[in-house]
Amino acid sequence: MKIAVLPGDGIGPEVTREALKVLDALALPQLTLFEGDVGGIAYKRHGHPLPAETLEMARAADAVLFGAVGDPECDTLPREHRPEQAILGLRSELGLFANLRPAAGFPGLEDLSPLKPELARGIDLLVVRELNGDVYFGDKGERDSAGGREGWDDMSYNEAEVRRIAHSAFRAAQKRRKKLTSVDKANVLETSRIWRETVIELAGEYPDVELDHMYVDNAAMQLVRSPGQFDVIVTGNLFGDILSDQASACVGSIGLLASASLGERTTEFGTFGLYEPIHGSAPDIAGQGKANPVAAILSLAMLLRHSLGRDADANRIERAVAASLSSEVRGADLGGSASTQEIGDAIVRHLQATA
Ligand code: NAD
Ligand code: IPM
Ligand code: MN
Repeated sequence: MKIAVLPGDGIGPEVTREALKVLDALALPQLTLFEGDVGGIAYKRHGHPLPAETLEMARAADAVLFGAVGDPECDTLPREHRPEQAILGLRSELGLFANLRPAAGFPGLEDLSPLKPELARGIDLLVVRELNGDVYFGDKGERDSAGGREGWDDMSYNEAEVRRIAHSAFRAAQKRRKKLTSVDKANVLETSRIWRETVIELAGEYPDVELDHMYVDNAAMQLVRSPGQFDVIVTGNLFGDILSDQASACVGSIGLLASASLGERTTEFGTFGLYEPIHGSAPDIAGQGKANPVAAILSLAMLLRHSLGRDADANRIERAVAASLSSEVRGADLGGSASTQEIGDAIVRHLQATA
């Protein structure tokens, strides 16, 4: 079993270190870790945010454990050199089109959420975000206009792209509460009209799944008003980016939400994938031991489940995280005072207690 570890920038390395501590505590046999530079650190060391060597390392592995990229010192670089291009490049080069972002409350820990307990209690949803298309990957550029420099970004989805992510979402819904909400802006965007029509065409293949449609503005409002109504949400790259950050705050903190990015490639043990917290490099707290490593640790659990076929280990990690949060080991993002390292240590202790 080969894992490519790409810690990246800011709090990326801080939270990845704690995830590796948890992995170490599992003492899995026949596991090899490779570590590569990615993001701003890679640009500074090698002149490119996604060096060819890093991409090859990721390709050669069974799974990628990714931290975060982004560096204020790189914010004025031309787009192709920005750290963010590294994660976009990995997602597209590796064909990882399905981004699963589960957002579930921790039973008994409704106090983590800024929502009323009766609303927080109902949160158990999965955002299935398309990851290889949309306005992210369309042509873009700058041109002159009567109003001065004009930036433009082309937004598009074709039927094949919608179909493959919709299949992923319908299948995910079949394994959950069988409810799928497709989120779009079909009242305004042609991209969304094709999206919605294509999802509806596919629904016939999944008669056991209840499908509905919601405009993204309403979805943002409903997520806060009554998050319990959602089971699986399927949406495009941009809307999924935004709604998943919002869902994280409904649960309690962006430091809690993990993600899996999957494609079609399988490995000896499962599906090849890249696993990362949904948060970024958080430059405002980097280097201070304030980052919550739970999202990174839960990303490791998803890696073990989807790419390495180690469900029991994934479940153990998730139980240890819940136990640790229950024992009030919480970071500043959740109103506590535990450091990144203390949170990681507590989770390892709970993991060992259930060995
Ligand atoms: P961010 O997610 O890094 O941070 C948003 C806010 O949440 C900040 O106040 C931060 O301190 C807090 N936060 C984030 N993760 C946390 C954690 N684990 N524990 C506690 N608090 C946490 O988003 P941003 O500030 O908009 O972006 C910062 C940089 O990260 C940018 O360069 C952006 O492009 C990049 N980014 C990268 C990824 C990625 O690598 N996949 C994702 C999002 C943002
Ligand atoms: C995320 C991030 C990325 C995205 C950025 C850094 C390109 O916000 O992983 O959610 O927009 O996909
Ligand atoms: Mn994001």
